[in-house]
Amino acid sequence: MPPREKPSSKKSTVLGIDIGGTGIKAAPVDTEKGVLLAERYRVETPRPATPKKMLAAIHGVIDHWKWEGRIGCGFPGVMKDGEVYTAANLSKKWIGVSIRDEIEKLHNCKAVVINDADAAGLAEMKFGAGKDRNNPGGGVVLMVTLGTGIGTALFIDGLLVRNTEFGHIEMGGVDAETRASALQREVHKLSWKKWGKRVNKYLGMMEHYLSPELFIIGGGVSAKSEKFFHYIKVRADVAHAEMLNDAGIVGAALGHEI
Ligand code: BGC
Repeated sequence: MPPREKPSSKKSTVLGIDIGGTGIKAAPVDTEKGVLLAERYRVETPRPATPKKMLAAIHGVIDHWKWEGRIGCGFPGVMKDGEVYTAANLSKKWIGVSIRDEIEKLHNCKAVVINDADAAGLAEMKFGAGKDRNNPGGGVVLMVTLGTGIGTALFIDGLLVRNTEFGHIEMGGVDAETRASALQREVHKLSWKKWGKRVNKYLGMMEHYLSPELFIIGGGVSAKSEKFFHYIKVRADVAHAEMLNDAGIVGAALGHEI
């Protein structure tokens, strides 16, 4: 029998880490098949969500897997070259921190860190609702994640335009994510109708600017698309994310491919 390979030594195996405002989730990912190779490991995001506390939690997650191979992370902010440029819903102390360097310093690995919505979009384009448009001629696809904030990932003919941050466009005089994120529905106990109309307004604005062929709606709430999709009246196709909970982790691992 051939010796058993360590999971992290295969080229297509990457530890995907989804760093979020409420939880940090990780699992080894097969980046060719787009599947998790083990059940995800989750820890609560420490409060306050400062770099010091969160980095300790991230190191703990990597240690949990005794990981020595490649690592891909998704983070809810603008990310350039492994460094945090913005952190709308986390401590502002994050700005200027290189998460990539912090990880590589402590672990024997090569790490990449990309925006969380870009990560989810990569997963949906390669394996989920966007796969038919993941090619030259595929046109414009906008992934919109509705969660604590609104994240966006823009694809043109299958190529990602990183860090678009369209969740922060102005809608009715305020930042759109403070009106139409999934958190807003929960906090203000909005009816599906009221919130669905806000999402419709938001997508209508995005359509006005970008004329996408397809919107992919992600975030936990996308599992309940039957509750609000009928309020969405745009010309583009609208699909719910297919990878659901796995998109963030799988997509983070795919950060090594862009
Ligand atoms: C952040 C984005 C992030 C989105 C979803 C927004 O507030 O600015 O970078 O992708 O939330 O987490």
